[in-house]
Amino acid sequence: MSDIPLEASMRKTVLPGGRIGILGGGQLGMMFIESAQKMGYRVHVFSPDADAPACKLADRVTVGLFDDVEALKTFARSVEVVTLEFENIPRQAVEVLEHHTQMYPGPNALITSQNRIEEKTFFQKRGYSVPPFEVIKTPDDLTQAVHRLGYPSVLKTTTMGYDGKGQQVLFSSDDLSTALNIVGPEGEWILEKFIDFEAECSVVAVRGHDGSMAHLGVFQNFHEKNILDVTVSAGAEMDDVEKGAIETTFGLLKELDMVGIVCLEFFITKDKQLLVNEMAPRPHNSGHISMETHRSSQFDLHVRAVCGLPLGDTSQVTPGAMANIMGDLWVDGQEPDWRQLDAFPGVKLYLYGKAEARPGRKMGHISVIHEDPFVCLETIRAARKALIRVKNYGPC
Ligand SMILES: Nc1ncnc2c1ncn2[C@@H]1O[C@H](COP(=O)(O)OP(=O)(O)O)[C@@H](O)[C@H]1O
Ligand SMILES: [Mg+2]
Repeated sequence: MSDIPLEASMRKTVLPGGRIGILGGGQLGMMFIESAQKMGYRVHVFSPDADAPACKLADRVTVGLFDDVEALKTFARSVEVVTLEFENIPRQAVEVLEHHTQMYPGPNALITSQNRIEEKTFFQKRGYSVPPFEVIKTPDDLTQAVHRLGYPSVLKTTTMGYDGKGQQVLFSSDDLSTALNIVGPEGEWILEKFIDFEAECSVVAVRGHDGSMAHLGVFQNFHEKNILDVTVSAGAEMDDVEKGAIETTFGLLKELDMVGIVCLEFFITKDKQLLVNEMAPRPHNSGHISMETHRSSQFDLHVRAVCGLPLGDTSQVTPGAMANIMGDLWVDGQEPDWRQLDAFPGVKLYLYGKAEARPGRKMGHISVIHEDPFVCLETIRAARKALIRVKNYGPC
């Protein structure tokens, strides 16, 4: 096969019964496989970790590292299209795959999403507003940037950050002193102004081989300790800010000539300004609720898009809400008391089958639907609260 990447015009439809490859073995891959298999596809997972959730469901698994060129080539030849479930895949791996099969998303979208500075610069160049930020390479850069942006501000690693990892909020000069020890001679950080936003939201949208696009509406998100906690999909008529969020997401999909799902996270400021926070070129945690609320879930849509099928019906059937089940709910090694959910018959439990529960680790989620989004929010919060165990400190 030649070393020239496949052109858009060479996108080939993969019909049900065909073979899809996915890079990464996490829960997003697992739920993608469920959708794909329901449509008759066979899925081959390439994952560095044999015990990852998606490996249990896959039709075939290659356990390998993303720098193993020969393993990647063999994997690429075994499938008709490759996609991914997390974006921190080395550029070289994507380039190898691109030369041997169809790969969605392609390197442009991936590289843009892998580095917070590239990502924010990309958005700014296209006229999308982002939180004010500065690039930090030295302790002196940090001191000056804090001086300009003020407190509070958020220091983030530029790469490999997810679920709030690699970031800290600086509230005072004491925090700055601590942070100055982190910013070393090597590496790059980003300092962002802390946005006292009114709300956070996300848009999950999809683009097919032929450039057709669809979206699942605007999800409202609530974070705890910088990790997504609860998502509500209200399905209400959109206001101008929300319409702007959809337009921005469609613009991004087109600009990057993407195929598949993208999620764009936004802050909505108190004066109703829309600021882009970050993008994920794959299914997203906030989109899990679409499995209950929409005719096609984000995973169904991702399968159809990367395989070149028509996107299908993306209409919303009902409002719904989702809450994450984090490893923090496992106290002293004990499982949460799942029987507590019996009191919430409408609540559905999803567990990802991860062997070890750790604080900050996503172990599963719960979801609920109801015609009133406020009831959804209250119910899902109450159900999750019922799962909290109190730590046993022993006799007083
Ligand atoms: N500049 C900021 N101002 C206010 N809150 C922020 C800012 N940056 C991040 N956060 C909070 O932290 C969460 C996670 O940050 P994000 O940049 O999305 O990183 P991750 O890649 O870990 O999701 C955001 O959803 C938001 O709640
Ligand atoms: Mg985020």
